[in-house]
Amino acid sequence: MARLLITGGAGFIGSHTCLVLLNAGHDLIVLDNYSNSSPKALERVIELASLSLEKATLRLEVVQGDVRDEGILERLFLEGSQAGRPIEAVIHFAGLKAVAESFLKPTSYWSVNVCGSQALLSKMEAYGCKTIVFSSSATLYGAAKSSPIPETAPIRPVNPYGATKAAVEMMLADLAGCSGNDAPFQTSQNGWRIARLRYFNPVGAHPSGRIGEDPSGHPNNLFPILSQLAIKRRSSFKVFGSDWPTPDGTGVRDYIHVMDVAEGHTAALDALLTSGPQLITLNLGSGKGYSVLEVLKAFEKASGVTVNYELVDRRQGDVAITVADPQFAYRRLGWKPKLKLSDMCRDVWTWQSANPLGFHNEAA
Ligand code: WQD
Repeated sequence: MARLLITGGAGFIGSHTCLVLLNAGHDLIVLDNYSNSSPKALERVIELASLSLEKATLRLEVVQGDVRDEGILERLFLEGSQAGRPIEAVIHFAGLKAVAESFLKPTSYWSVNVCGSQALLSKMEAYGCKTIVFSSSATLYGAAKSSPIPETAPIRPVNPYGATKAAVEMMLADLAGCSGNDAPFQTSQNGWRIARLRYFNPVGAHPSGRIGEDPSGHPNNLFPILSQLAIKRRSSFKVFGSDWPTPDGTGVRDYIHVMDVAEGHTAALDALLTSGPQLITLNLGSGKGYSVLEVLKAFEKASGVTVNYELVDRRQGDVAITVADPQFAYRRLGWKPKLKLSDMCRDVWTWQSANPLGFHNEAA
């Protein structure tokens, strides 16, 4: 098993992936600045992994800090190599990830997502750590012409968030010596082993309800908005656009359970650790699209709560349909999502109803 650096490991996808990685036997160092996460998530991960305090100290080291901080990065890599427990691979989640917000704060998104990735990759290179799984996004496809979307579809981001993910993907291709080539599998000329995972819409929570999505401040995404509405933390739900070219006029997305996304990371990491230098690019999606109104109905069924909504104008940066062609991930990793929309709605409701204030819910 490997010793891994997990940037952003206290976040929504990061925390669920840390749990799967610990259960797979890996030892982790988590670097997180808690700008959109809580250290409590990692306490719960330790609980779910049934780690004793002694084991947790050994197997899950937690460092608060910013991925752009070269001093912290230097300390983590240096201490690892001096202690004879070098960082063997990195899973890089740390970043800002809300489409709507990225229009309001483009320079913050470029600083955290791109400069942060550059600082991390430079330090990895300096210490000869050349294995990385990168948290990319289907948002970089923009308004794709084809649906479902294969990994070879043109990269045409229509918002700053997607543009930053495309920029980091290009940086990774340059490192691998694969510049300008969009093939989903390429051997690396420079010894790097890189997986670029393009998430579609990760949602849901661990079935225990002990960890889940807990966005700081006003949530931007559909599922946390629905779940907060159901526990009366919000009073209204706006459907952004009812005139899209879709069956019921509302936006269609490829929702994938966060536990399936976490398993996808472990499968990609295992593929890199057990084979030679390469650059692989994978869609993490189900291949099935659901409209906003279909999600709303499924959530009402899971929660027993009626969701009143208002049809309003489209949201800036949105596209009509984003659905994955997930075949390559299955062929390359033998991985495909197992959980359905009803599981996603059930698990997000279990999480939110048990933790009305997320990880700030002292009573829980
Ligand atoms: C989903 C659908 C909205 C809120 C997300 C993340 C991004 C990336 C891709 C990982 C759309 C509609 C939403 C609301 C609504 N993930 N909606 N009312 O925009 O597809 O992007 O997944 O990289 O990080 O932002 O997800 O959940 O915001 O929207 O009608 O109040 O729900 O228009 O059709 P999106 P979302």
